[in-house]
Amino acid sequence: MTDAVRRRLDRPAALGDRALAGSEKLRFFPLVAASGHGCLVTDEDGREYLDLSAGWTAAGIGYAHPEVVAAVTDAITHQAYTGGISASIPVTSGLVEDLISRFPHVENPRVYLGNSGTDANDVALRLCREYTGRQRIISFENSYHGGLGLAMAVSGVHVAAGVAADPDTTFLPYPDPVRPHTGNPQTVAEDVLARLHTELERGDVAALIIEPIQSDGGLVIPPAGFLRRVVDMCQVAGVPTIVDEVKVGLARTGRFNAFDHDQAAPTIVTLGKSLGGGLPISAAIGPAVILDQPVASALLTMAGNPVCAASARAVLRVIDDEGLVLRAAESGERMRAALHAAAQREGVTDVIRDIRGLGLTIGVDLVHPGDGGARDVDLARKSVYRAWQLGVILYYVGGNVLEITPGLIISDEHIDFAADVVMRAVREARAGAVTNDEIASYTGW
Ligand SMILES: Cc1ncc(COP(=O)(O)O)c(C=O)c1O
Repeated sequence: MTDAVRRRLDRPAALGDRALAGSEKLRFFPLVAASGHGCLVTDEDGREYLDLSAGWTAAGIGYAHPEVVAAVTDAITHQAYTGGISASIPVTSGLVEDLISRFPHVENPRVYLGNSGTDANDVALRLCREYTGRQRIISFENSYHGGLGLAMAVSGVHVAAGVAADPDTTFLPYPDPVRPHTGNPQTVAEDVLARLHTELERGDVAALIIEPIQSDGGLVIPPAGFLRRVVDMCQVAGVPTIVDEVKVGLARTGRFNAFDHDQAAPTIVTLGKSLGGGLPISAAIGPAVILDQPVASALLTMAGNPVCAASARAVLRVIDDEGLVLRAAESGERMRAALHAAAQREGVTDVIRDIRGLGLTIGVDLVHPGDGGARDVDLARKSVYRAWQLGVILYYVGGNVLEITPGLIISDEHIDFAADVVMRAVREARAGAVTNDEIASYTGW
């Protein structure tokens, strides 16, 4: 290979990136990610960015964690087959045992392993239909459960954006104490529970799927106790529940599962994103009566892939060894305090409806001042662009909520830096530092 060809291959971003299908792009600024380490991403010119998204939470324990690198290197060196559908692979079986031990409430447990959060949810929903012999699914407005098939068709955000809803799915409001659909934060949960009760009485529900926190829907944290009551009501009605922990599970909220905040015991738990330590792997953990049947009905060649399984085992070990559950809780508190202080310093409290979160799942809700809390979508778009210019990666959800979900290993210094940059970005974006032309080609959501 000549040096010229090597140089071209080393810098393929412009042409290759343009040719990457638009259908799989969600861009907020022109980030080129050439390498990553810990909570940092480095571009082709060697500029470092602090990643407050952790790649949409998939880099939950940071990029290139040494434990993951070692496990993956070993697994690919001795590559044990391709996936688990036609062979028992020791490292994959080990992962299944690790996962089962984390969910002792599941009776006679089984683990479906997949490639993405989408397929874990899709398969879980489909198998609930098979098991119950019923069709109807209960989901929630503004939910996000996947980007394909049934998981997409039960996702409120997609349906709101024009994707055809699954015809047998009923969407209930998600109880949002900040923007209550009832007009009163005290009544949102009761109203949804009453509607759920009515739906369950029809006797035709195959499954209910729910996020413990609606993240892509705008970082909505339901009232305490809501999730538990949903799960309990469904259990009484004989309806399986799927709690989607793909985005906020695995220690991110300061508990191992986000649903642990509510002591809920869902029928099926789905995991993804950070489970793989940077590689694609997902899981649905649930009872054998649902996940075992029909045999051979959810086959993905690479599911249970030994390299991804080795990586996932390393992630689970790191969560324990580095005490990441507690660390997420403490770092989350520090981050929220730092964000409040920085908002004061930068004089932007009037455009912030609230700063909410659990552990390192945090949202900064940007609004038009004095306008009854109307979402400021333009400010969100410009703030994330400005933050990128200042060296911080973050995205917005729900149109106007800056989402802060860094790697759980983030240092205190990086937390303080992050809070300063985020609030500076909001101030400067508000003052006109980013023009409409600059962000015209970065449409985001
Ligand atoms: C809550 C939730 N569930 C499922 C998914 C889908 O996961 P994936 O994109 O890995 O298929 C996402 C992705 O954002 C998510 O946020």
